[in-house]
Amino acid sequence: MSETIPAFEGKRIILGVTGSIACYKAVDLASKLTQAGAHVDVIMTDAAQRFVTPLTFQAVTGRAVYTDLWQTESGGALPTHIAHVGLAEGASLFAIIPATADTIARLASGRADDLLAVTALAARCPLVIAPAMDGAMYAHPAVQANVASLVARGAVLVEPGFGRFASGLEGHGRLPEVPALIGALRAALGRSGALAGRVVIVTAGGTREPIDPVRYLTNRSSGKQGFALAQAAIDAGARVMLVSSARGLPVPYGATLMAVETAQEMQDAVLAGVHDVDVLIMAAAVADFRPRTVAENKIKKSELATDAPVLELERTEDILASVKAKRIAGHSPRVVVGFAAESQDLLHYAQDKMARKGVDLLVANDISAVDAGFDVETNRVILLRPDGTQVALPLMSKARVADEIIRRVAALLG
Ligand code: CTP
Repeated sequence: MSETIPAFEGKRIILGVTGSIACYKAVDLASKLTQAGAHVDVIMTDAAQRFVTPLTFQAVTGRAVYTDLWQTESGGALPTHIAHVGLAEGASLFAIIPATADTIARLASGRADDLLAVTALAARCPLVIAPAMDGAMYAHPAVQANVASLVARGAVLVEPGFGRFASGLEGHGRLPEVPALIGALRAALGRSGALAGRVVIVTAGGTREPIDPVRYLTNRSSGKQGFALAQAAIDAGARVMLVSSARGLPVPYGATLMAVETAQEMQDAVLAGVHDVDVLIMAAAVADFRPRTVAENKIKKSELATDAPVLELERTEDILASVKAKRIAGHSPRVVVGFAAESQDLLHYAQDKMARKGVDLLVANDISAVDAGFDVETNRVILLRPDGTQVALPLMSKARVADEIIRRVAALLG
């Protein structure tokens, strides 16, 4: 069974479903949110019920589904004549997914003509709307004005994507896929989190140091722990810049990705951004050495006098050391987190690294273990502080490790 997601655990989410063919994605979304640990109360408009039945949502959420403003027979759920108040009270989020042009118009003008619209007026939690409609409809000034007025009142807009519609036409109005919708809901839930208003840079992945146009030196880092940290920071409400040399991992919704290749490029990106940020988390496995020269063309074995070329390496810059120098000169970030991947004498080397690199929190892991460290889903780390405090966390998913680190970062920021 998949792991729950702390950002959703115990949270009550009202999912408003309106009449679009994209309703089928809302079913999967309701299922995934439930599996993630949320309590999902679905409200369907009449039009939505033409695409999917309430029973479908009831089956995936295990909860009553609300459809009728006037129905007084509750069948175990909240009696619907007061459901709008009961549902709205204590909800963490009201997400209208998919949101049709008609529903957006009704919300924008404050109508109260069905259960969904009434509940939207009663609710005080954040409102998320994910429009889904034909591209020409979404571009219409009436729809755009209605969306803008909801956003001006604080609604979170999940921008539709570009793609093919059921009509066969293409355009901008397609409901994003479920992982992106989940990411958008995480970002919306995080808005009042412990890192709200903070800016965080996270580096991730092993850098690649070119030998020639086709070959490079790298290491076994996958970037998974760094990406999990970016997601955890977003869950806590931070604005995140992800400086990554990792490829092929899904970028957390809301993170700004800066793709880099080499240690030099990573250093340039970090130093360019580090003045204005609250936190730097160096989860990347930065190359310590790179080829002294990079061949302009592919090195051909037929042109070599000997069997194989001899590579001469040189040291790369230490990014954390250069950030330490900037901090001594009085520049941000206020909190710096470093990693230490060691295959022997873990604590000894980690403590030495913490002092040398001037970090406030050091995450040490033993990469000789098969279930922790590089390119696996789990990690077992020890968290060290300059005051000598050590916390050894048990084996857990990289997502949980990330949450533990972000919790401590928030505490350090105060
Ligand atoms: N790091 C860095 N710049 C480098 C190399 C590493 O900023 N050129 C950062 C890493 O992102 C990590 C920490 O320093 O947060 C420790 O990285 P690690 O590779 O474990 O240490 P090294 O500096 O390579 O030291 P050693 O060779 O002694 O292991």
